[in-house]
Amino acid sequence: MAVIPVDIAGRPYEVHVGAGLLAEFVPLCRGKLRKRAVPIVTDRNVHALWGEVIETSLRDNGHEPHWRILPPGEQTKSWDQLAATVNWLLDLEVERGDHVVALGGGVIGDLAGFASAILKRGCRFIQVPTTLLAQVDSSVGGKTAINSPAGKNLVGAFHQPSLVLADLAVLDTLPDRELLAGYAEVVKYGLISDADFFAWCERNGTAMLGGDAALREYAVSHSVAAKARIVAMDELETSGQRALLNLGHTFGHALEAETGYSARLLHGEAVALGMVLAARYSARRELMPVASADRIADHFAKAGMRAELAELGLDCSGRDLVAHMLHDKKMDAGTLPFLLMKGIGRTYMDREVPLDEVAAFLDVELLRGAAS
Ligand code: GLY
Repeated sequence: MAVIPVDIAGRPYEVHVGAGLLAEFVPLCRGKLRKRAVPIVTDRNVHALWGEVIETSLRDNGHEPHWRILPPGEQTKSWDQLAATVNWLLDLEVERGDHVVALGGGVIGDLAGFASAILKRGCRFIQVPTTLLAQVDSSVGGKTAINSPAGKNLVGAFHQPSLVLADLAVLDTLPDRELLAGYAEVVKYGLISDADFFAWCERNGTAMLGGDAALREYAVSHSVAAKARIVAMDELETSGQRALLNLGHTFGHALEAETGYSARLLHGEAVALGMVLAARYSARRELMPVASADRIADHFAKAGMRAELAELGLDCSGRDLVAHMLHDKKMDAGTLPFLLMKGIGRTYMDREVPLDEVAAFLDVELLRGAAS
């Protein structure tokens, strides 16, 4: 098992990465569960697969689990589910020093985390992420949110968990498509600032996705360590380092918006395409070689992901996609900061990207497959 510290001033915590952690849930919590009753927020799918394992650990150690089992899917990150979850925690008389357990993927982590952030002005919570994406990204760093009619993750808070338990065994029950979508966020750490890790992904990504246990532990713990370093430097995304974690997200969010935030394009799939587009746009501006951008696209394609915008078959223009970007929560006084690359592992923020040029670039990319 790997233990990665997240050194946030005043609120440090650990991320544990290893196989079989759920069965050891209570001992790993090391006294954080201070009452007999333990509130757990999860979704139906995760509960069916892993509820019994965590329930056994709790009951064997004298605790009584209280389950809140929500519908799976993005629509659960709503005001209604937030209000109902907060009222449920109030009914359970959860106090500020108590811990709520978030057992699930990003949706559950975000919802339960936000409920914990506002319950009595903040109670504690433990993240138990059950998707690769949640293990390497959303469970670490304290971003919590719900969606609103105006867009995704527009209402939320920074609220750090007290502990993150990333059990690699849960990845065995994850659908392949979800695993691949999470892999985009693993590769992201290489593209941001770690060319050696990108090369590691090129060498080992297929075997890791195929189930190699040692490679999985390395991929998850290396990714978490990268995220922990960035979050410790810039917890609230104010000094620029944390914003680098949004590589691929501006293009990706536009694609998610255009596809209606539907199963047609999962978030991680949009991020993979978004990173390819960021790389190709960087190459078009002669910031990095075209061959490096092609290398990134090739890697995602070899892993089994869509790596070309044209493969989505969108019926829209570059200008339509740019219009979605203007609703991005990263908009800042009328400008939209873009994360571009000076090379693999050399991501930086550019605040002066002309949106007309981005729209023209996207027009070319929308047709790239058709032209060849
Ligand atoms: N997922 C990006 C961040 O946590 O900042």
